[in-house]
Parts: sequence; C-alpha cells; structure tokens
Amino acid sequence: MCGIVGYVGPQSALDVVVAGLKRLEYRGYDSAGVAVLADGGLAAAKKAGKLVNLEKELGDRPLPTGTTGIGHTRWATHGAPTDANAHPHLDNAGRVAVVHNGIIENFAVLRAELEERGHTLASETDTEVVAHLLAEEFSVTADLAEAMRLVCGRLEGAFTLVAVHADAPDVVVGARRNSPLVVGVGDGEAFLASDVAAFIAHTRSAIELGQDQVVELRRDRVTVTGFDGRPADVRTFHVDWDVSAAEKGGYDYFMLKEIAEQPKAVADTLLGRIDAAGSLCLDELRISAAELREVDKVVIVACGTAFHAGLIAKYAIEHWTRIPCEVELASEFRYRDPILDPRTLVVAISQSGETMDTLMALRHAREQGSKVLAICNTNGSTIPRESDAVLYTHAGPEVAVASTKAFLTQLVACYLVALYLGQVRGTKWGDEVGAVIRDLSKISHEVERVLRTMEPVRELARTLAGKNTVLFLGRHVGYPVALEGALKLKELAYMHAEGFAAGELKHGPIALIEEDLPVVVVVPSPRGRSVLHDKIVSNIQEIRARGARTIVIAEEGDEAVVPYADHLIRIPVTPTLLQPLVATVPLQVFACELATARGNEVDQPRNLAKSVTVE
Ligand code: M6R
Repeated sequence: MCGIVGYVGPQSALDVVVAGLKRLEYRGYDSAGVAVLADGGLAAAKKAGKLVNLEKELGDRPLPTGTTGIGHTRWATHGAPTDANAHPHLDNAGRVAVVHNGIIENFAVLRAELEERGHTLASETDTEVVAHLLAEEFSVTADLAEAMRLVCGRLEGAFTLVAVHADAPDVVVGARRNSPLVVGVGDGEAFLASDVAAFIAHTRSAIELGQDQVVELRRDRVTVTGFDGRPADVRTFHVDWDVSAAEKGGYDYFMLKEIAEQPKAVADTLLGRIDAAGSLCLDELRISAAELREVDKVVIVACGTAFHAGLIAKYAIEHWTRIPCEVELASEFRYRDPILDPRTLVVAISQSGETMDTLMALRHAREQGSKVLAICNTNGSTIPRESDAVLYTHAGPEVAVASTKAFLTQLVACYLVALYLGQVRGTKWGDEVGAVIRDLSKISHEVERVLRTMEPVRELARTLAGKNTVLFLGRHVGYPVALEGALKLKELAYMHAEGFAAGELKHGPIALIEEDLPVVVVVPSPRGRSVLHDKIVSNIQEIRARGARTIVIAEEGDEAVVPYADHLIRIPVTPTLLQPLVATVPLQVFACELATARGNEVDQPRNLAKSVTVE
C-alpha cells in the first residue's frame, strides 16, 4: 500500500516522479505529493485525492525545476486523507522531505519526544516523525544515509522510507523493512520505487533491496548497506517485460486489458515447464524431489483472490496426490498456533509478493521448520525471496486492483504443483500427468473462446445495475469460483454479494431468496461427477421456485439446466478440476460491467489498494 518514487539524474525529477506515480497509483489513491531539490532548497506540493488533483495543483503553482526528487501516492493508515496528511512530510525548517509506506508503530512515543524538544508536527501521520528525526540526525552527521540508518534503528513496525535533504543535493536515500522497495539503475541516473513499473520506461535493470537495508542513490552510484552500516549483498535482476505491458493499450481500464490478456498469461505460465516427453519439469523449484516425497501435509496460505485459488488447489492436490491439504486465510494463520513441522509443505500464493498477512504466515511456517513454496507473479518481491522455493506465474504486471489474470495463472501454477507432487511421489502415472497437461495446454484457447462470447454477459450486467444484492452458488471447485465472483462484485460494484456452497443453501441462506433476486449458479460438468451436476440442477429449481432470477453458467451441451435458467452463460467443456479457468472469466466480465454501469472507478475501487502491505 502506498506508492513511492525517488529519482536522481539529468532529467526533470518532477516529470520522472509524476510519471512514476501514475504507474503506482494502483497502490493507493487517497492523496499524492512530490518534493524536488532545486535552487539550494526544497520545494514540495501535495494534495488530497487522486493524482490528477496534484497535477492540477502543479499546473496552477509550478515547482522550480530540479533533478532530484521524490513522490508518493497514499493509502491512508494514520490520519484522514487530507492535504496535511499527504506525503511528503517535511521537518520544521523545510530542508528534509520524506515519503513512507507502512506503519511506524512507536510513532506516538517518538512524536512526544520531538515535541518536548520543541518540534512542531503539522499532521496526524506516523510518518512525519521521521522527517524531524532525520533533520536532527543530519545536523550531526551531515550524511543522509547515515542519518537514515540512525533513524531506522529507532523505528518499530514496517516501513519503507525515501528521503531527500536540501543540503545533500543529488542524493536520494531509501530504507526498507518489510514493505517493498526496488532500485532502478540507469545510465547516469537512478530510481527508487515500490514497483519496477514506476521506472520501466527508463531502465529494465533493477536491484532488489533486502530486509533492513539502506540505499543511497547518486547519479553514478548506488550504495546499499544494512541498518548497521555494513555493506550489503544485493541481487540485481533484469525486468522481463517492457513499458507497453504497464499501459492500458487502448482499453478503457487496466482490468479490461488484463481480462483480455488471460489466454496469453495462462499459456506463458505453462511455457517451459513441460519437457519434450510431455512430463512436468519444474527445474526452478528449489525443493528436491526427495524432500517432496517426505511431505505429509500441504498447507496453503493466501488472501482474497489468491485464497480462492488456494481453495481450488486443495481439490487438485488431494485428488491427484492423496496428501491432506488445508487452505487458510493468511491473516488468521499464525494466530491460531497451526500444527506445522518439517514434513509440512506450506504454499504461499500472492500476486504481488508483498501481502503482509501472507508474508507473516510464511515466516511463521519457516520458524516451525516447514518448507515454503511461493507461487508469485512479481520478481524481486519479498515473499519469493523469503521462501524456500518459488514458482513464478507469468501473468505480466497486473495493475487493476481487482485481480483477474493473476488468478488464472495462480490456478495454473497450483495445478502444476499438484501434478508435480503426484509425479514425484508416484500417485500419478506419467500418462495421467500427460493427459492433464494436454488439457491444460488447450485451456488458453478455451479462455479465448469464452472471451469472444461475453457480450450477453455485459448486457445482462447492465440490466442489473439497480440491484442491491447478487448471490453466487457453486459446488466442488465451483464453490470457490462462486466466492471469487462475489468478491469481484463487492470490490468493484460495491454491491452486497455472497458466495455459497449450493449444498448449504437449505441450511440457512435460502431464506435470502426473494422475488427477482439475481443468483449466479456455477454448474459442474454433467460428465464425470454427474451426481454433483444433478444436485445443483435441483438447487437451481429450488431457488427458482422461490422467485430467484437464475443466471446459470453451464457447459456447452448441458441441456438439463436449460428449463431453469433465466439467463444462460455457456462455457467450454472442460475437465471438472480445470473448470474454474473458464468459469471465472464471465464473472470477471460481469463485475467489471456492473461497476461501469454503476459509475464506479473500475481500476481503483474505493477504500482499496492493490498490495496490502500492512496487517
Ligand atoms: O498480491 P496478493 O495476491 O497477495 O493479494 C491478495 C489480495 O489482496 C488480492 O487478491 C485481493 O483480494 C484482490 N483485490 C481481489 O481482486
């Protein structure tokens, strides 16, 4: 949460920083601000609301031109989203500016101490104390990196900080504990950002900062140390996507673009993981086959949409490997003293790789001796770095707050892990693995086909714009799909939406059914597990008899549902376990269109941020 940018180089810092903030606005959009070093001083501007408000302010009251600067886009934690609470925060002399992502837990004590020493603090934020502390330390050390190290030693909590000082021209200093911070190394210029998207237009060469590290950027030099001042080892990496991947490319919203990119994202996630003989080769997995054979339990931890991917993975893992699998909300996990040991494989699923709840869950698991495998979309992020192994999804950057292509690729990665476990443990024969892989390889075309038939879904969504509630039902893997459909609708359309296991209906939720209430039902394939299919057809009849308006998502050729569907959305015939890859797509389109019809901001829904880097 919160996007941070820093720049030093020959270009106008304001232009580079504001352009970077535009790419980071998905991380928070309660307020935005910038500071530049110019004419021997420091100039800053900040505004509540979205970045356009700041841009207007900068148009009305331009800042002097400088080549060193920082910027911030905020998701509010301490203090309301006002101009005063917007970042950057300055010291009383207006010589230091600091931006921050995270929470400084001991800020109240530090603030009281500062006030006792005569400082006047102008905001309600936890961040402002850092500007004042940095000013104090710099007045002694005259070295901004050293001042930052000293200040960090006094802070508790999770924080990423970036600062400039008017008396340290051509220097930007950053510090990282828990929240993300990446360095971009250009030719005679350097960048700092919460996400490489902020500087990808300038350089694809990046340095991943580790935990408790301070970085000093100069035009020609990047120096990284630990909080203790010792030189730190860093990992450099090349960003394997370019600036076009982080742009809307003609779509009205990033979400629409990302929905459309799903066939490619699914195909890319499979790429290079199947050998010529059709077997799985997850060479990048740093947990050996011998270790995987010892696993006696899998525990999946994740949040939100990634949690729904985990719920679906459980069906595949247990069915294909016969290993018990638990799926848990990462935010609940470590607080209930879970039973973990070295034979437990913990799978942490996260698009961003920065979700604090998931990070804390995996740290807890490792402390108990369990091995952690991350399924992640973001190279250079914390969750893969702190895991024993990682399987990257190759969705490319996901900018819209609502997760779409990341979800489908998380599913693919989960299927690969499940199959691989089955392969190395011998619970799946090679030909069985090969058959599933062949089905998976066809899926990207099926997703493509679904996308071509979405106009009726959009039309239907528009007719439901005035409704207050939509329910979602599913069975087996269709149940997590129902949960995902409801989550998308809540976060985008701000409607009351709930997902239920269809079998639970008669245990209470059926009382919610009333005349014309839209109920989306995800119908399992009539082939294979036809008992499930027959049961859900009965469930559809039960709700329809009570007045529900049934919106049925069913396989092509499933005629049994036709008499009971007020609206029928067809999806391709797919093996049961893989059905979520095609069944989720209409629900994404449905939520996106409903949000548009209700006049909501699709890419930046209210109160949310893309990466939840606080617990
Ligand atoms: O980056 P992560 O996958 O760890 O994020 C987890 C959730 O915050 C995320 O999936 C969230 O639920 C999405 N906004 C849902 O669309």
